[in-house]
Amino acid sequence: MKQIFAAVFVIIIIISLIVAAFTLTQVQQEDQGLKKGLEQRSILLAESLKETVQPNFINKSDQQLQNLVDKFEDKQRLAGMAIYDNKGGTIATSSSLITQVLKTKKIAEDAMDADTANGDFVELNNGKMYLLAIPLHDEKSVVGALMIAQDAGYIDTRLNEIWRSNLLGLFIQASLISITILFIIRWLIIEPMRNLVKFLKSTRAEDLEENSPSLLTNFFFRPLVKEISSIRRKLIKARFAATEEAKLGLEKLNSTWTEQRLKVFIKDVLKDRTIFMVSNREPYIHTKKGRNINYYIPASGMVTAIEPIMEACGGMWIAQGSGDADKLTVDEEDKLRVPPDEPKYTLKRVWLSEKEKAGYYYGFSNEGLWPLCHIAYTRPTFRKEDWEEYKNVNGKFAQNILNEIKDYERPIVLIQDFQLALVPKMIKNSRPDASVGIFWHIPWPNSESFSVCPWKKEIIDGMLGADLVGFQTQQHCNNFIETVSREIESLLDFEQLTITRNGHTSCIKPFPISIAFPNRFKNKDDKFNSMKFLKSLNIKTKYIGVGVDRLDYTKGILERLKAIEIFLKRYPAYVGNFTFIQIAAPSRSKIKEYQRFTEAVEKEVERVNNLFRKNGWKPIILFKRHHTQEEISRFYKLANVCLVTSLHDGMNLVAKEFVAARNDEKGVLILSQFTGSSRELKDALIINPYNGEQTADAIKVALELSPLEQTKRMKKLREVIKNYNVYRWSAEILKTITNL
Ligand code: G6P
Repeated sequence: MKQIFAAVFVIIIIISLIVAAFTLTQVQQEDQGLKKGLEQRSILLAESLKETVQPNFINKSDQQLQNLVDKFEDKQRLAGMAIYDNKGGTIATSSSLITQVLKTKKIAEDAMDADTANGDFVELNNGKMYLLAIPLHDEKSVVGALMIAQDAGYIDTRLNEIWRSNLLGLFIQASLISITILFIIRWLIIEPMRNLVKFLKSTRAEDLEENSPSLLTNFFFRPLVKEISSIRRKLIKARFAATEEAKLGLEKLNSTWTEQRLKVFIKDVLKDRTIFMVSNREPYIHTKKGRNINYYIPASGMVTAIEPIMEACGGMWIAQGSGDADKLTVDEEDKLRVPPDEPKYTLKRVWLSEKEKAGYYYGFSNEGLWPLCHIAYTRPTFRKEDWEEYKNVNGKFAQNILNEIKDYERPIVLIQDFQLALVPKMIKNSRPDASVGIFWHIPWPNSESFSVCPWKKEIIDGMLGADLVGFQTQQHCNNFIETVSREIESLLDFEQLTITRNGHTSCIKPFPISIAFPNRFKNKDDKFNSMKFLKSLNIKTKYIGVGVDRLDYTKGILERLKAIEIFLKRYPAYVGNFTFIQIAAPSRSKIKEYQRFTEAVEKEVERVNNLFRKNGWKPIILFKRHHTQEEISRFYKLANVCLVTSLHDGMNLVAKEFVAARNDEKGVLILSQFTGSSRELKDALIINPYNGEQTADAIKVALELSPLEQTKRMKKLREVIKNYNVYRWSAEILKTITNL
């Protein structure tokens, strides 16, 4: 719309300039015409007066002359008269000119000197005048001059009138033209465009057979509409073929899973039962930027994995609203359709007060459970007030879920992660017909470690309300079962891997989570030019390493930086030839431990850089800000080596994303043995992040690996992710939960 207003504005400026130029010419012509007329009339009048004045002048009858002058004063446009002798002295003058005769005498003198009529327009006290002087003669020579003053004010009045009427005309024209242009643009372009976009959206949203908006459009868009309609027909055919193919492969879980196949699976196997996904972190966060509202996708492995599933399945995702513009983008039920650019499912936001966030999110979840579950040697902190908020907020989420599922039969409720451990039981108690699953994205520690939690029994009890409790690895399942057997009374079936408590049975199973594969930015990436990108970053080294993490003490970032120092000391040939780029997304920054950790990382980067920096080169570049998935994908593509050195990690999807991004089948992954993904990605170089020398050597091996060997490894890694992508992950969970 801004551009349209700008175009209208430019048109108005052009019209104004034209009107101004036209008016100027008209005014000039009119000015000339009026002046000429006045001059001619003045000469005629002066000549006729001369007939009377000249004899009196020669006879030196001054009184007669004054009487004559007085007689003609103020007659019609004749504002006055004056008679001069040939020395410039005033003989007679009209009263209106008395004070000004000296000023105007020059005109009379010039007329006498040239012996011809002389006139000029002059601004006098009583307005603009035309003064004309003609010489008076006796038989031999010029003896004086007669000057008449004619009122010329009407000329300016007339010219002003022309300006006024033309400007009024311009204003009316400009308004009419603007309205007409806006109307035409709306009628010819905006409306048909809207129609077209609606039509395309319905096509993309698979509303192909029914409910498609009709495509009424004007002749401008006819060729475009023809093309789009033909693409639409082809899409219908392709979708049909893909659906049929997906149906054939449904029973074979091993064959490749795609978004389309998951959709068919949900339709056929779940018989359209609606899925309600629940998590603390939301997939889209809206923020204010000046007067605009933007959104971003948060750095969260959970979001990375779950979002593509929701796009495939539709349904509803219930999560905490955390952006400063989140409230501005929801409807009266706190819902909105997402992804914002291509809506496919509903996001329902749950609002928490600052007190609730402090206790439930920062406190119990991230200062209690997070360090408790990760063996990263950061002590968990347990506070009674935090626990109370945790219970309260879990209840709030449960209430929201119950409201949403009240009209659905046998809904499927999938709860994500450690922030909502108590929710499964709360749902199951009220809605026994719902299929409830909880997936624990982070590690479950051994029973001894877990036993330090003061509310361990309540947490396990809450989780066991679910029909299915999923973990990333078999080891985490074993740890959980051991914890349950140690902490509460229940019946364990080690063969079926089920736990029965108070008459309700939960199945405990590993589902190693994954990502959407192939990479979702494939098409855009084809145009990616790594040389250009490196140049834009001012990086000139031959070898590039990359690390992508939230700024979290479990990610082993300090250990990684130390390993880079050891690497450069051990293998000095790489000094000046290797750059390590650390992408670090700020995270949970209200927590002291995270603030301390961020400072420590910044200091360590500085320290290592100071040891080696030379000629404008430094070994480590730290980008401490949020990056989009597309931006991160570019860094993955240019790296020779990606370092994932978590001290403990449920899965770590960065490792999988790096592999997914490398459709050139190059690059090497260095992966911590303490990540869930190291169980699957065996062709990575597996290291112990606490062993700096080992990591340093792995960097050297990675950089010197032959292209052939790189491809061999990368192919196998990609095969693992292709066979077990997130669509298969969710199909397996859904199949398991519906079969229970
Ligand atoms: C881990 C957790 C997620 C969490 C993410 C980001 O991956 O498993 O549940 O969303 O960290 O943390 P945040 O606290 O920012 O959501």
